[in-house]
Amino acid sequence: MKKLIAALFVSFSLFNVQAADSDWGKTGHRATAEIAENNLNKKAQEAIGDILDGRRLAFVANYADDIKSDPEYRKYGPWHYVNIHPDAKKYVAEEASEDGDLVQAIRKCIQVLKDKDATRSEKQFHLKMLVHFVGDLHQPFHVGHASDKGGNDIQVRWFNDGSNIHRVWDSQMIDFYQMSYTELVINTRDLSKSERKEIQDGKLLDWVYESREMAEELYAGVENGEKLGYSYMYEHMPTVLNQLQKGGLRLAKILNDIYS
Ligand code: ADE
Ligand code: ZN
Ligand code: ZN
Repeated sequence: MKKLIAALFVSFSLFNVQAADSDWGKTGHRATAEIAENNLNKKAQEAIGDILDGRRLAFVANYADDIKSDPEYRKYGPWHYVNIHPDAKKYVAEEASEDGDLVQAIRKCIQVLKDKDATRSEKQFHLKMLVHFVGDLHQPFHVGHASDKGGNDIQVRWFNDGSNIHRVWDSQMIDFYQMSYTELVINTRDLSKSERKEIQDGKLLDWVYESREMAEELYAGVENGEKLGYSYMYEHMPTVLNQLQKGGLRLAKILNDIYS
């Protein structure tokens, strides 16, 4: 019996190590959602308040992760990331994965929210998904290589723990920073009108390519098995904070456009 328990424990731990991580952690997604909330126009505030029964965007920002364990929602797994082949110049919708990807996901959510014939419950579902996905889009490794599952297969040590580079970017730097999502939001950088406009300008694919380019740099800056800690944090945490803010401002732009 003891052996059986030990074997189960080992296989379970292996499974845990191998399972692909996903997403800015809960704190990151909430910060992005709250920044978006603070940048909504009146019309968007009203429409969204109605769809979400008065809840804030931050409250629903992790819904797309919460449903992952439900087999009914398994098909949405690939919607959290997009892998454009390193040799490809750009994203080609016609050649994209039939299982869906982050670009198709965001487009679908926008389409449902704009659709006068969509039901309230369809709108609620796709709004919750959209809030999450625009966050994911700003985690560079969600626009990484398919060959290493967006960095999930690049093993690193995070301080003294086994990890991978995707997870370091999803949650471990943010968790190490030890701020709540509201503290992160209070401490976002003040931007001028033109800085804000520059961030919100552009189309979905421009933002995708921006993350993809960042991911390439980050891939170049890490080796399999590398130990990361204070200096990695010092170098990259400003980028993480900036990405959370950009995600929030762009999510607000998308929502303000939908309800304009
Ligand atoms: N999570 C799971 N698989 C992934 C992939 N291929 N790219 C990015 N994130 C992922
Ligand atoms: Zn992730
Ligand atoms: Zn996600």
